[in-house]
Amino acid sequence: MCGIVGYVGNQEAAPILLDGLARLEYRGYDSAGVAVFGNSGLKVAKAKGRLRVLSDQIQEGRAIQGQLGIGHTRWATHGAPSDVNSHPQVSQSGKIAVVHNGIIENYAQLKEFLVGHGVPFTSETDTEVVAQMIEYFYDGDILKAVGRVLHRIEGAYALGIVCSDEPDRLIAVRKDSPLILGLGEDFNFLASDVTAIIKHTRDVIYMEDGELAELTQTGVRCYNNLLESVEKEVFHVDWEIDAAEKGGYEHFMFKEIMEQPEALRRTVFPRIKDGEVIFEDFGLDDDYIRQINKIYIVACGSSYHVGMVGKYNLEQLLRLPVEVALASEFRYMEPIVDERTLVVVISQSGETLDTMAALREAKRLGGKILSIVNVVGSSIARESDVVLYTWAGPEIAVATTKAYSTQLAVVDLLGLYFARRRETMTEERYGQVIQELLLLPSKLEQVLESTQDIQYYASQYFNHDSVFFIGRNMDYALGLEGSLKLKEISYIHSEAYASGELKHGTISLIEDGTLVVALATYDKLFDKAMSNVVEVKSRGADVLALTTKNHAEEMGKTANGMITIPTTDELLLPSLGVVPLQLLSYYIALMRGCDIDKPRNLAKSVTVE
Ligand code: AGP
Repeated sequence: MCGIVGYVGNQEAAPILLDGLARLEYRGYDSAGVAVFGNSGLKVAKAKGRLRVLSDQIQEGRAIQGQLGIGHTRWATHGAPSDVNSHPQVSQSGKIAVVHNGIIENYAQLKEFLVGHGVPFTSETDTEVVAQMIEYFYDGDILKAVGRVLHRIEGAYALGIVCSDEPDRLIAVRKDSPLILGLGEDFNFLASDVTAIIKHTRDVIYMEDGELAELTQTGVRCYNNLLESVEKEVFHVDWEIDAAEKGGYEHFMFKEIMEQPEALRRTVFPRIKDGEVIFEDFGLDDDYIRQINKIYIVACGSSYHVGMVGKYNLEQLLRLPVEVALASEFRYMEPIVDERTLVVVISQSGETLDTMAALREAKRLGGKILSIVNVVGSSIARESDVVLYTWAGPEIAVATTKAYSTQLAVVDLLGLYFARRRETMTEERYGQVIQELLLLPSKLEQVLESTQDIQYYASQYFNHDSVFFIGRNMDYALGLEGSLKLKEISYIHSEAYASGELKHGTISLIEDGTLVVALATYDKLFDKAMSNVVEVKSRGADVLALTTKNHAEEMGKTANGMITIPTTDELLLPSLGVVPLQLLSYYIALMRGCDIDKPRNLAKSVTVE
């Protein structure tokens, strides 16, 4: 996913843009560029490769003077990574420069129209079409020219635009790709997200779809797509800047794994008062909660895996049908949703396009939307009827860890809150789960204190080229996340399989030395899990088991290796069990020399279809 930064103020823009782009590197990219307006006009510098290549090219920004500019890190969609396809893209006269995150779906038709009017093109990008279109409609007012173009382009876009004929203002545009404005005393920013600018300002405006903004050194004005002025709420971002720094850790991912106990405390503790789950300003009244007859959980990736655990937990707590759907499937499957369906949308970034599209489809069908989101003010949060934030703090590593854990905890809190109102839990059971939820952070700390054995197993298994994660019930759901963690950061192929299903075909793949991570934390099915361990061992598998301490002795007699977690309420086992799996993947990726925080081909938030 691309990164955008724009600055207008009383300091040299280029170094500020480079610093902002560096803070957006976690989003994934393959080229970078800046356009800065100064005494010698509009200067553009851009290069394929890491940000360091661009920074060296312009001597850390000293080679380009000017106090207004835009910067970009590109994750290629249209046109291979190259210097010419890097952003900013420039119009034929050179006076309009544009940076873009998203996809212009009708760029080919627009390009054909412009070529037919003699406009020369230099790149393969959809973004160049935007720059050329703006110049085509430009008649001395950049804001009006941009407004005309927006009525003609289709797709998802966050745009930063400069015009050398009007060098005192930046134009920002937002539709389906996030864009925020950072407000300062004598400077203003536009950026893809807060991490790029929090060093300079904590006062931000979250642009809505279809809005434009005009930024000068002294102010910011926002407009709707009819160019009518709109008033916008200013949010004050309160998390610490070091939250977006590594803080002495080698990787953001390890830092965020270690932050999980604290993230859980921030997420859970304020929501439990005198033994009761409370949600401040919760937008669902008790009558609505009692008439819900179905819950749909919709998400992507690890957030979907939270939903898979959530299905087990919520069905147990509420005795309600809970369906879980991949967001990318949900929107095309004619889902059965009506006014009595609660649609739980889970997303760390709050910007995943597939998930946003599923939310809109669910809303169209009459469903009530409750989102579980980590980024305050994000698009999914803003379009939901009810939002429960996970308070994990900024998650920089592409591979999610603390957001996954806090999402799980919020789903459990939601289940308890609803169970209370639907009277589907005994007081005793309710109290037990609450008690264990409050103990969860300290039990997580116990797991995080004993990473040596996990490091040892990583050293034994980092050269495997195929791994199975098997488990039953919520252990199967947990295995889905363990498998994804391993795949996305170590590039080892793996798959999660329901243990009971192995014998129906896939067990033919088990041979001497096949690594099987056997998840056996779910007490009620431990004996079944043990029989599956025996089943795969008898075919030569090398079994690394994950189980609770009370089953360690029995499992230790059979498995080749074993990792144990403290016992806890069965609903919370995945919240503990996921941590050794995160660490195992981390150490394996470390031993394979992978780019752990920025895995190849991946982005932190996928804002394209
Ligand atoms: C998880 O490690 C991945 N980075 C990815 O699967 C992610 O969970 C997915 O893209 C959904 O992102 P979201 O939670 O921000 O919507």
